[in-house]
Amino acid sequence: MIIRSADLEATAVHPHQWPKPRLPEFAFLGRSNVGKSTLLNRLLNRKQLARVSSQPGKTRQLNFYLVNQAFRFVDLPGYGYAAVSKQERDRFAAMIDRYLNDRDELCRIFHLVDIRHEPTKDDVAVHRALLELGVPVSVVATKADKIGRSHVPKHIKVIRDILRTPADIWPVSAEKREGLEELWRVIEGDLGA
Ligand code: GTP
Ligand code: MG
Repeated sequence: MIIRSADLEATAVHPHQWPKPRLPEFAFLGRSNVGKSTLLNRLLNRKQLARVSSQPGKTRQLNFYLVNQAFRFVDLPGYGYAAVSKQERDRFAAMIDRYLNDRDELCRIFHLVDIRHEPTKDDVAVHRALLELGVPVSVVATKADKIGRSHVPKHIKVIRDILRTPADIWPVSAEKREGLEELWRVIEGDLGA
């Protein structure tokens, strides 16, 4: 994919703030700090389009990025971050739920999990709910640079078994820029490009 333009189009807390023109959207969902915003920047080849932080809880709204005037990436707040208040976590969850359930434009969800660890209880619960939505789901196993290349297949198998998922699972390293082409092929397939 050649990225001719990529811009933050809208930041939304409420549905009326979601962008109006109908374009296919790809959502990035996962635990806080799993690397959603970093992956989005790498895919779009923009250093700091989406804000990244070593502190979890950086992304606090739905951020809609318009790409090539043709489709959108949607960076969602992370779940499972204990240090934000229960009230705020509930607010994030409601915001995400509403988007995932009500957004007709949603064409695929990328569910990000950390390749190093077994998916958490939260990851499993979220994944089950995603599979119920009837929207295509792909799992992205992030931070693959943190484990040796030879360990990747074993970790992918653990993730598949714990999530009990039929979804495709893609190892990526935003850091080393590995696995990005494979994700683009998935996206291009959806776009019919
Ligand atoms: P929230 O917005 O808080 O939900 O987090 P997020 O999922 O958007 O994570 P973010 O992209 O902000 O990244 C969190 C941390 O992980 C940052 O310190 C990143 O530099 C680091 N990180 C992200 N991707 C990778 C990767 O592929 N490899 C390595 N080694 N670190 C990564
Ligand atoms: Mg983020």
